[in-house]
Amino acid sequence: MKIINPELIHYFNGDLQGKKVERSCKLYKDAMSFYKSVDTSLNPDTVMYEVMTVNADKKEPGYLNWAISLLHPVKVNDECCMTRGHFHVVTDCEEYYWCAEGEGLLMFMDENGNDWCEKVCRNSLHHIDGHLAHRLINTGNTDLRIICCWNSNAGHDYRRVEAHPFPHRVFYREEGIVIEDA
Ligand SMILES: [Fe+2]
Repeated sequence: MKIINPELIHYFNGDLQGKKVERSCKLYKDAMSFYKSVDTSLNPDTVMYEVMTVNADKKEPGYLNWAISLLHPVKVNDECCMTRGHFHVVTDCEEYYWCAEGEGLLMFMDENGNDWCEKVCRNSLHHIDGHLAHRLINTGNTDLRIICCWNSNAGHDYRRVEAHPFPHRVFYREEGIVIEDA
């Protein structure tokens, strides 16, 4: 019997490393439309969040993807840094988010447009029903590092969220975290 080295290394509070890891960056200029207003003081090339993904070999039921979403503590006219937000194309596919560091909110929205948030903190584990839209929001002053696992055939339906946006937004103000109507 042979013993082989692991193909992947995941440092719990750090990066995901290995040949199969794909990295992407979301810059402010590509994320402007997520936010209530344009912040002209922010460099368009500011990195808002990064994703490191290990994609399964097949996008079929039974295959899993693994990733880190790393949201930087950027504010856009006081609005907290957040992911684009999506429904899954295949709504039977669920997902787990596990927080390695930072603090934030996981915003959910059901198919009728009702939204709510779950608090995210170091070690919190979040089960995501595939029928719910979901978005991560960094409400702190440090990186928010989330470990994600989901079915490789789930897909990301961004258009559905753009057509029916989350009805609330989260701001970081002097008095603390403030949630406002979108
Ligand atoms: Fe998802």
